[in-house]
Amino acid sequence: MFVRRIAVVGSGYVGLTTGACLASLGHQVVCADLDEGKVAQLSRGEVSILEPGLPELVAEGLAAGRLRFVVGAAAAVGQGLDAAEVVFLCVPTPMGAGGAADLAAVRSVVAEVRELLAPGCVVVNKSTVPVGTAARTAVLLDRADVAVVSNPEFLREGSAVADFLTPDRIVVGSDAQDAAERVAALYSRLGAPTVLTDAASAEMVKYAANCFLAMKLSYVNAVAELCERLGADVLAVTEGIGYDRRIGQEFLSPGPGWGGSCLPKDTHALLQVAVAADFDFALLRASLDTNTRQQVRMVDKIRAAVGGSLAGARIGLLGLAFKAGTADLRDSPALAVAALLAAEGADLIGYDPAVPTAVPGMTDDLTIADDPIKIASGAAALVVLTEWPEFRTLDWGHLAELVQNRIVIDTRNLLDPDVLRRVGFEVRGVGRQ
Ligand SMILES: NC(=O)c1ccc[n+]([C@@H]2O[C@H](COP(=O)([O-])OP(=O)(O)OC[C@H]3O[C@@H](n4cnc5c(N)ncnc54)[C@H](O)[C@@H]3O)[C@@H](O)[C@H]2O)c1
Repeated sequence: MFVRRIAVVGSGYVGLTTGACLASLGHQVVCADLDEGKVAQLSRGEVSILEPGLPELVAEGLAAGRLRFVVGAAAAVGQGLDAAEVVFLCVPTPMGAGGAADLAAVRSVVAEVRELLAPGCVVVNKSTVPVGTAARTAVLLDRADVAVVSNPEFLREGSAVADFLTPDRIVVGSDAQDAAERVAALYSRLGAPTVLTDAASAEMVKYAANCFLAMKLSYVNAVAELCERLGADVLAVTEGIGYDRRIGQEFLSPGPGWGGSCLPKDTHALLQVAVAADFDFALLRASLDTNTRQQVRMVDKIRAAVGGSLAGARIGLLGLAFKAGTADLRDSPALAVAALLAAEGADLIGYDPAVPTAVPGMTDDLTIADDPIKIASGAAALVVLTEWPEFRTLDWGHLAELVQNRIVIDTRNLLDPDVLRRVGFEVRGVGRQ
């Protein structure tokens, strides 16, 4: 294996995982971030995001001298004998005006490093970007001696290290095939199936994958609604269809709508890409509409459970993160439901094992408890919004003594209704009778 000097720009979920994992594979990695506090913390081996195995990998990389953290892309790119041969861009590409991806961070890093890159260097875009970004990056770089490669990332928050080190596949695309092969070689030790393609196709793979997952979830949420109307049980239905290998068991659980740092912005971005290409992606639009409807439907269920009006009703929320295993609140469906409840005057108190402090943007509307028991006092209803496994084994008998009404709206179908029934709770799930 060739050991490469690698720069990783952006040290968030994707950049930090990429940097630490590539260092663990033997490469010399320098990770950059704009956030000086984060760089100082990481240099001391302190990892603030919840990712199993990541603190250990960071500590190992620092101790071995294979991993360093610096402020700013220019410092990571280095020069002379310390010049990076490969530069990964792992900066945010949030939803911008009208739903399109905002590429300001990508452009800003390119402008910062373009004159500093060593001849023969490869710039790799790992951020999720619209088709055509690699080509536009090459124009912005204006360096005939620097190739641009698209290498989308598929890791999931909460299992980022495992996903990076045992990926289902690696996708590398470039119009300069030798540069694509150099990037693919960085991962050779992983032994994963590798798709080598052109840049536009690699960029499209990422959007097509995320939007497919979003559609799958919207589909199952729509099926769940129909199950409720027809007297079927969505758990049996999804088990029955999931055994079909063409469908698969994953991403088949109904919930309060999908969210997180990727699916919402990526579906909106692909929709905008389609509009620009004069294509009406009706299927994707319907998936987004179904998702909004699902959040509203959860609020309808909660309102019905408390007798028709949420004004002044104390509602205890179990879970705030967009899924279990992460503290990430970006576009969390739990918060979307909470915001709708607050708009109707509900008195909200929430608990999440990974979210100990106030939720930005909801400090006035949502009190955060440090113990799940505390959300029960006087609650007109309890609502499970994130599928943390520990909610199954709460002391439901104790909670039953504290609530005003013994009713749980389980938007994740997480709890065992029989267990709760024994202590007097009624459980209303999604897609079930
Ligand atoms: N989070 C995921 O699960 C995931 C999975 C696959 C792909 N992605 C994609 O990867 C990209 C990064 O996502 P993320 O979740 O890691 O974001 P993040 O917000 O966790 O991290 C981005 C980091 O980049 C830093 N940054 C911003 N501008 C910078 C600059 N000019 N120079 C140096 N650092 C800069 C920020 O301070 C931040 O620490 C996005 O395009 C996202 O869509 C994310």
